[in-house]
Amino acid sequence: MLLTLVAGARPNFMKIAPLIHALQTAQQAGSTLRYRLVHTGQHYDERMSQSFFRDLGIPAPDVNLEVGSGSHATQTAQVLIAFERELLSHRPDWVVVVGDVNSTLACTLAAKKLGVRVAHVEAGLRSFDWSMPEEVNRVATDALCDLFFTTTPEAGYQLMRQGAEAQQIQLVGNVMIDTLVRQLPSLQAPPEWTEWQLSAGQYGLITLHRPSNVDDAEQLQALLELLAQESQQRTLVFPVHPRTHKQLQPEKLPPSIRLTDPLPYPQFMYLVQHAWAVLTDSGGIQEETTYLGVPCITLRDNTERPETVRIGSNVLAGTQHQGIRQALRQLCAGAHPKGRIPLYWDGQTATRIVAYFQQLAASL
Ligand code: UD1
Repeated sequence: MLLTLVAGARPNFMKIAPLIHALQTAQQAGSTLRYRLVHTGQHYDERMSQSFFRDLGIPAPDVNLEVGSGSHATQTAQVLIAFERELLSHRPDWVVVVGDVNSTLACTLAAKKLGVRVAHVEAGLRSFDWSMPEEVNRVATDALCDLFFTTTPEAGYQLMRQGAEAQQIQLVGNVMIDTLVRQLPSLQAPPEWTEWQLSAGQYGLITLHRPSNVDDAEQLQALLELLAQESQQRTLVFPVHPRTHKQLQPEKLPPSIRLTDPLPYPQFMYLVQHAWAVLTDSGGIQEETTYLGVPCITLRDNTERPETVRIGSNVLAGTQHQGIRQALRQLCAGAHPKGRIPLYWDGQTATRIVAYFQQLAASL
């Protein structure tokens, strides 16, 4: 059985790495499962792509489709065209897509039009916010897929509401947590740790890249001023996504906010692990902070990962200043929820996924 694994943008790489490691382990134990790794090239900078391949031990992709940046239609269309060509020359038994980026949807669509079955890892997440391009990608991908690997029971419920059959849904846990568990011993302080005299539990970490938070420069500036104001003089480390970089005016920022380039995974996660709190609009970071028990304040009006709020250490603060101020004041007062780790977020998710494919292969 040949699986084509698709990776396109930064958050995909943490999800693909454990799948490849589990496939390699299975092969060493005699499994005949084969895989082909396709990088769509949606992210291409050293710090957004290659550094993750190196640090997470992902082998070089078999092919890079080099689609690059563009409007949603352009980027999605480029992936569709290039991935169709890839499938015609190397037809797999299954395509495996992860997450919710444009590459996820485009590759699913190309595969289904050619009659190739598709499995979605991290299926069934829903924010119910149609202004998020990722929500469109999630719903459309799940409408087409044949097999769904889910992180939580809630995700399975959402899939069934959309018409999926119970036997198509496998609750396996969280592959991104597999990567975190594996990398925990290798996390290392970035050079900024000594340069800025950071110490554990004393600094905040900001990440912002959602169009709704960063595409308006004035709104972004006001948000950063609020975060600085309500963090009681703590240093706020801010690794800046390329999209956000275009809107920032560093000389106007409060002095407690320290900017840096996007960081390699082991350095970024070291900062997460030791932070006083993480202030973010990312999806995946809500999960990573939940696993680590680090306070997370999510600067969004909704989350497709509600278990991080219900079970974990995440507080959904919204995008209005009043809600964000309240969440930060609660945190400063020691009233932030402690949280627990959801079921199956145990570092073994990719092994469960590969075992499932082995069973499928054996039943053919
Ligand atoms: C994409 C995903 C988002 C994910 C995020 C993580 C979609 C719809 N969005 O958003 O879900 O959370 O990645 O990073 O798929 N750029 C570079 N170098 C790169 C890549 C991008 O400079 O390697 C710049 C380009 O100017 C590009 C902009 O960043 O136009 C945005 O990149 P894009 O891939 O379109 O979306 P992201 O905002 O990164």
